[in-house]
Amino acid sequence: MATTPMEESAVSRPLNFTFVPQAHDLVSICDFSPHEIELLMALCARMKAHPGEYSSALKGKQVVLFFEKPSLRTRLTFEAGMGQLGGASFFFDQTASRLGAREPLSDVAHNLERWVNGIVLRTFEHSTVTGMAENASIPVINALSDLEHPCQALADYFTLSEHLGDLRKVRLAYVGDGNNMAHSLMLTAVSLGSHISIGTPNGYGPNPLLLARAQAIASTTGGSVEVKHDPAEAVRGANAVYTDVWASMGQEDEAEERRGIFLPFQVNQELMSHAAPGALFMHCLPAHRGEEVEATVIDSPASVVFDQAENRLHIQKAIMLSLMGGKRRQTQRSANA
Ligand code: CP
Ligand code: NVA
Repeated sequence: MATTPMEESAVSRPLNFTFVPQAHDLVSICDFSPHEIELLMALCARMKAHPGEYSSALKGKQVVLFFEKPSLRTRLTFEAGMGQLGGASFFFDQTASRLGAREPLSDVAHNLERWVNGIVLRTFEHSTVTGMAENASIPVINALSDLEHPCQALADYFTLSEHLGDLRKVRLAYVGDGNNMAHSLMLTAVSLGSHISIGTPNGYGPNPLLLARAQAIASTTGGSVEVKHDPAEAVRGANAVYTDVWASMGQEDEAEERRGIFLPFQVNQELMSHAAPGALFMHCLPAHRGEEVEATVIDSPASVVFDQAENRLHIQKAIMLSLMGGKRRQTQRSANA
């Protein structure tokens, strides 16, 4: 495979290269500027290629993970990633009761900031993640909320850059529900000057406020986002086709109704035939073969789903290092703490 611009950019960086984003947290893709997302991709490439340079980068640091929903990839990649950086992690199974049910979220935040160096949250309400970030003086990372899944989308665009090179020449088609994945993918796409089309049934499109935000970012980066309601139209000419479950965690009661509505949006060989020749297939996983994707597509050589899963580890190491390593600017919150 030829060297990608991202790999070249990573190789030319100095030893132990890192960067400190302006933001204190990664709650939404919008927290990082387009330039910072480029830097994060370069850092990820550097860390993936030279893991040994970073094996003590977070020595002595600790993160705590609170998950209100199940997880395989996210939990393991945060825990493994923190270990590979010389730090430690603690997992709290929060599936029995929501964060903030036993005591106010602000009290939880003010406890955690006295003990550990970072907080990783998987929640139902996005406001739980924003609320923790507003209250805690330590960085908060969104490991999936009902509104966004930023770590996954960043890993996915890193994966696209590895396979396809210059992201400004890439068109991704996301087909399915206008959910957390659709939101984070479209914001990441436009931040990197890339092109995304979103194909959803009527009434299941992305959040209009986030769509407007994505369009505003696109106008500054040369990227683009479009929403279509015909799956073949959405996929036409795409270099990669992405789908996600039709009923996300927390929507189990709607699963039956959604199956009928989303069936025309199933990614099968017929739909893939509308994409560019050699188009990749992507899925954040877990996948339901026979529902949003046919086994003949997800299990084909075009599928890069396990590369995406691997890159969760590398991108989250880069996210944790950027937010928790190095010397941070004094923020208003930490100044008041
Ligand atoms: N893709 C993803 O976030 O997987 P998990 O739900 O298993 O963490
Ligand atoms: N949209 C899915 C993503 C799972 C990784 C969900 O929220 O359940």
